[in-house]
Amino acid sequence: MILSIESSCDDSAIAITEIATKKLLFHKKISQELEHSVYGGVVPELAARLHAEALPKILEQVEEYFPQLKAVAVTATPGLAVTLVEGVTMAKAIALALDIPLIGVNHLIGHIYSLFIEKESEFPLTCLLVSGGHTQVMEVKSLSEIETVAKSMDDSFGESFDKVAKMMGLGYPGGPVIQELAKDGDREAYNFTVPLHQSPLIAFSYSGLKNAVRLAVEKADGDTTKYKDIAASFEHIATKHLTMKLKKYFKTNKPKTFAIVGGASANLYLRAEIEKLLKPHNAKLILSELKYCSDNAAMIGRVAIEMFERGEFSSLESLQSAPRSLL
Ligand code: KG4
Ligand code: ZN
Repeated sequence: MILSIESSCDDSAIAITEIATKKLLFHKKISQELEHSVYGGVVPELAARLHAEALPKILEQVEEYFPQLKAVAVTATPGLAVTLVEGVTMAKAIALALDIPLIGVNHLIGHIYSLFIEKESEFPLTCLLVSGGHTQVMEVKSLSEIETVAKSMDDSFGESFDKVAKMMGLGYPGGPVIQELAKDGDREAYNFTVPLHQSPLIAFSYSGLKNAVRLAVEKADGDTTKYKDIAASFEHIATKHLTMKLKKYFKTNKPKTFAIVGGASANLYLRAEIEKLLKPHNAKLILSELKYCSDNAAMIGRVAIEMFERGEFSSLESLQSAPRSLL
């Protein structure tokens, strides 16, 4: 079995995965959403302190598996420097105490493998990662052959939902609340400009749209009845930006199997619009189970099985957390 730890942002999670069967034997996550909500976003130092409390609590519950552990895996990159180190330090202590190998996992690859929890992997695929920290399209041929073909130049898709919710005083995370508010709104009510629509670049940008929404919220001047239309128009344009760029990309790179992963892949409007986009290409859409879209340790454990089988271990000295990923 492999014990895996996730602490890259505001979720403390630990999983136990059986190597031979890929079966998830234990998974527990303690989210800090409530604690960060009053600040409208994640406060790194608060997150680190909460991980330091939550991770040992979860670890106590898996002690019975210790004799059967063959490795300990941990998210090492990317993420918040002060929170990554909480998981990495715990993983190193476990590796040392139990004398088992250490596996450092890339969180973005974790999101890709969230598609294959308790399943065989299926490659090649084109993968859209939409989370709080990332918006990128990757061509994935295998664990070690991942090419990023488009990414955001500034904010991410999920983060823009968080910022819009913050402007409306709706707390954190913004994705689910904005989605809920948008359901009853008019998507055409506000004519926000689609980011980079005149640019030939296949890249993403959310800072301009965020500022346009800020002006609309200010103009509403506290009239919260306008918020559902603002939310709906924002969600429409934020999604249209993704589908327009993907459409352009598909002209030269026909999709066969397409996946959406990351916390914001739970967005139903996005899922529906991508489905429409894939239809003429007869491409297959694969998604993670809803409970594994947002950060979790099950996906880290799933990647770790592949790395274990390839013998990709790190030494106690060489494994360092790194806020920025090379992907
Ligand atoms: O993958 P994740 O849990 O953490 C990172 O790796 O960043 O993603 C969290 C992000 C947050 O920005 C959250 O607002 C967004 O995913 N999110 C959504 C939805 N559910 C979560 N964004 C849009 N629509 C949703 N339904
Ligand atoms: Zn994530």
